[in-house]
Amino acid sequence: MENLIKKLVYAFGPSSKENSVKEIIKEEISKEVDEVYEDNFGNLVGHIKGPNKSLMLAAHMDQIGVMVTNIDKNGFLRIGSIGGLRKSFLVGQKILFEGGVEGFVYYENKESPWEAKDQKLEKFYVDIGATDRTSAKKLVQIGTEGIYKPSFSANGTRITAPALDDRIGCAVAIQLLKNLRRKKIKYDLYVVFTVQEEIGIKGAKVSSYDITPDIGIALDVTDAGDTPESPAISLALGKGPAIKIMDAGMIASKKIRTLLIDTAKKNKIPYQLEVLTGGTTDAAAIQITKTGVESAAVSISTRYVHTPGETLDMTDVENAVKLLKKFIEK
Ligand code: CO
Ligand code: ZN
Repeated sequence: MENLIKKLVYAFGPSSKENSVKEIIKEEISKEVDEVYEDNFGNLVGHIKGPNKSLMLAAHMDQIGVMVTNIDKNGFLRIGSIGGLRKSFLVGQKILFEGGVEGFVYYENKESPWEAKDQKLEKFYVDIGATDRTSAKKLVQIGTEGIYKPSFSANGTRITAPALDDRIGCAVAIQLLKNLRRKKIKYDLYVVFTVQEEIGIKGAKVSSYDITPDIGIALDVTDAGDTPESPAISLALGKGPAIKIMDAGMIASKKIRTLLIDTAKKNKIPYQLEVLTGGTTDAAAIQITKTGVESAAVSISTRYVHTPGETLDMTDVENAVKLLKKFIEK
């Protein structure tokens, strides 16, 4: 599974530019499902036909990023954010732009960046090594998208990479499809790899409207509260997948979360309960489709979400696959 995750985190995929991620996933799942299709908005759907109620799983392919907003006469770029970029992590980072150009992020020099109190995004700039505007424009344009330069490291069961939000959800979904035993699947199963989650859970909205499932489950990352002096979040790495009760965008269906908890207990799969006061997932969009869909989420506790150092524990990932497999099979 580690190789799959590595492949996924090295793919370029800020919101609306998910194609390279999609190509990898298509190849991984095509043999595992009855049909693979894309909708007009760009969501990728793997469908395993089944007799009963329909279940939609959603994992988002996109990642947070930046977009070039201005190129000055000396060739320095200014950037806007795609999704919830955390500005305080920007200085000193390498950005990889679409097309392969790399740049280094710094802060206007009147104040040292580490002393600057006013960290307005317009004060950050990216140096791509261009000597002037003309040479810069040969490499990037206004509107070119960029991401934190991909990297991947593993130490024991812990892995660190930018874009684990939500390539890890994609990896869980792919691995689940590989592990499911066809004859035992008790749902009409739609596994949706969504686009544009980070800019307003958009892909899930249209996909859920199209599919109108009976049940929806999002697979995504959540925060962890197990770092030095961290806020009081009751989630920790390695304690099992998190079954969502609530986040800033939804209260999970009591019926579905209870079913998930019972499945975990019955199969002795470790799990944690998630209550998160900030952020949400695709499940919040699925839940309010048409007349309402019973929705829940299975999350992977992750440290430093939306930074280049997103860190999680692989045992949680493996247990999430197990839990979902047991949930879906009879
Ligand atoms: Co996110
Ligand atoms: Zn996410």
